[in-house]
Amino acid sequence: MAEIKLVPLPAYQEYSPEEMLNRSQSFYEELLRRRTVRDFSDKKVSKQIIDNCIAAANSAPSGANKQPWHFVVVSNPLIKKKIRIAAEEEEKEFYATRAPQEWLDAISPLGTDEHKPFLEIAPYLIVIFSKSFDLLPYGKKFKSYYAIESTGIATGFLISAIHNAGLVCLTHTPSPMKFLNHILGRPENEKPFLILVVGYPAENATVPDIVKKELNEVTTYL
Ligand SMILES: Cc1cc2nc3c(=O)[nH]c(=O)nc-3n(C[C@H](O)[C@H](O)[C@H](O)COP(=O)(O)O)c2cc1C
Repeated sequence: MAEIKLVPLPAYQEYSPEEMLNRSQSFYEELLRRRTVRDFSDKKVSKQIIDNCIAAANSAPSGANKQPWHFVVVSNPLIKKKIRIAAEEEEKEFYATRAPQEWLDAISPLGTDEHKPFLEIAPYLIVIFSKSFDLLPYGKKFKSYYAIESTGIATGFLISAIHNAGLVCLTHTPSPMKFLNHILGRPENEKPFLILVVGYPAENATVPDIVKKELNEVTTYL
């Protein structure tokens, strides 16, 4: 069995109950200002900010600490164009034939269609891959645990970090997404999870007027 090395809990900070209440309230209010944006500006964003947001995501908990994710940051206009063309092809099929009516009804309040100009306009596309195993050069496989759950949690960290930095993003899931492996040259053990479109909102950006469920609808206290 591997030797377990324990270190003191680093950087833990305890707050007074009043401060905890204030912090929990202000964090909630901060997250409440986040919205999914589909109208992007082409204004440039420093790569260092993106690096910091991804470092925040990479600190997320993961099954057996396997960190079963890979982030491909695309700013190259030619690659963004390829992604847009492939995504629009899939989405055209999706809206025309693949999506069941129930799904189309569910997304109709969002006003989305097969046109995805933001894939070329926004300065960054962060394409997130999830790995059910790591492939070593000599062919040995290292299994991940809870790869999807872990990648979802890391993505939540990433979305929060992007919002905290003062940028906006769109969670985009063209269906299916296999074309991302081909365009980005990612290996077979990496499954496209989603595309995060990241940047500043366009000057007159609008968002759908939607409501969230009440807390008592999504919570049970026993
Ligand atoms: C897993 C996931 C996939 C999504 N896929 C898309 C998508 O492909 N296209 C899109 O326009 N929005 C997509 N969204 C964004 C949702 O429509 C949006 O989060 C939802 O309407 C709530 O709006 P809000 O994020 O502004 O609160 C996706 C969100 C999630 C979490």
